[in-house]
Amino acid sequence: MTLGSGQSSDEAGSAIGKRSEAAYMRERKVVPGGSMRAASWLQPHPPYAARGEGCWVIDIDERRLLDCANNFFSLIHGHAFRPVLDAVRDAMATGTAFGMPTESEILLAEALAARSPRMEQTRFCNSGTEAVLAAIKGARGLTGRHRIAKFEGCYHGAYDWVEVSLDPTPSNWDDENGNPASVRCNAGTPDSVLQEVVVLPYDDPQRCADILRREGATLAAVIVDPNASRAGTVPMSKETAVVVQDACRRDGIILIADEVISFRLSYEGASPLFGLEPDLITTAKIIGGGLPIGAVSGRAEYMAVFDHSAGKPKVSMGGTFSANPLSMAAGLASLDHYSRPVVERLNKLGGALRDRISKGLADAGVAATVTGMGSLFRLHIGAGRVTGYRSAFPTAEAAKLIRRIQLAMLNENVLLTPNCSGSLSSPMTEVEVFSIADKLVHVVERELDAYKGTSN
Ligand SMILES: Cc1ncc(COP(=O)(O)O)c(C=O)c1O
Repeated sequence: MTLGSGQSSDEAGSAIGKRSEAAYMRERKVVPGGSMRAASWLQPHPPYAARGEGCWVIDIDERRLLDCANNFFSLIHGHAFRPVLDAVRDAMATGTAFGMPTESEILLAEALAARSPRMEQTRFCNSGTEAVLAAIKGARGLTGRHRIAKFEGCYHGAYDWVEVSLDPTPSNWDDENGNPASVRCNAGTPDSVLQEVVVLPYDDPQRCADILRREGATLAAVIVDPNASRAGTVPMSKETAVVVQDACRRDGIILIADEVISFRLSYEGASPLFGLEPDLITTAKIIGGGLPIGAVSGRAEYMAVFDHSAGKPKVSMGGTFSANPLSMAAGLASLDHYSRPVVERLNKLGGALRDRISKGLADAGVAATVTGMGSLFRLHIGAGRVTGYRSAFPTAEAAKLIRRIQLAMLNENVLLTPNCSGSLSSPMTEVEVFSIADKLVHVVERELDAYKGTSN
């Protein structure tokens, strides 16, 4: 088996070339932390991208990396996908943005509506964060309540309310009754925000039901990512989904399915796979074909909360570049090519990837597991079963190992996200997928051995 350079993460400096190093030294002077987003940063600094070709990204030192990060799961067709490039070029030739609607926004809204009856109407914006905050404002407008519930450890973008309990630790994650506490993520978040967010356990349906029975009547919305990426990339259990759905129906709470990542899981999106019938659905990432996008969708009766046509809407939603024609064109081309057979093929490849990694880890006898669903996967260090945020929470040693493994995979020319998660893209075949699996197993085995060696 050929496994590339075979360097350990200790030699990772060599995975990141001199031009990237020079770029980083320049960027440090003008950008705090030397990087625009923490998510794409790694020690000692990230490689800088020059261009992309299909499932490969080439850095400015001409190193070719098999891209499993896919700009945080937004590039379902990989880089420079011809139909997207053509659609954007055609749109760009006619102008980039107008203070008028364009027909392209109708086409993309219709494409979503054709996929799911629960996406009957849509409003576009420019990011998943914006979509989530608009959906929550919509839920408040619809119910006249202002509190929300979210699941512990789940990421829904950079909006104060949904950042509550994004990253609690064992030292602060329980309240005095043993329920998940509302924990501040950013310095300066007001106490009032913490009081307005009820935190639910992802993998304890009974406790979840008890909390919702107690708090339900005060809630505008429950927001759910049914394949919680940050909380472990583990699918929500059927039991928890039933608890959430029942509570929303019983107490008139708006159920928001945040499918910013998980929309890719089926042609109709993620919710039907979990038996969820959300009132509002937020999407972003793959529906923009690689350009900035966000969307709130729902049945017309719920989306009416944003309707301004008869005067001031209950809740306003709009922005200078909302539904800009470039994102609309790219999104439409991307979705057009994310047909049922393509969804099924990628999901099958994802299953094969996870099976191969699981078998490889088991055969090697290493304490690590892989989670995920469809075309998404994530590595965890440790022998325990991962069912949600708390069981996915890494020990200090595991966190260190995950960082080393990400770097070691870079040495093997595979780009993962910093928590060693990844996604597949449609240009990938079994060749790339098995290569990712084999390299990952090999790297995990080697890094765990090296760690044992240093800790003995
Ligand atoms: C589930 C979920 N919701 C919302 C967001 C925010 O999306 P954006 O980065 O486009 O603001 C993300 C981003 O990763 C996400 O994973």
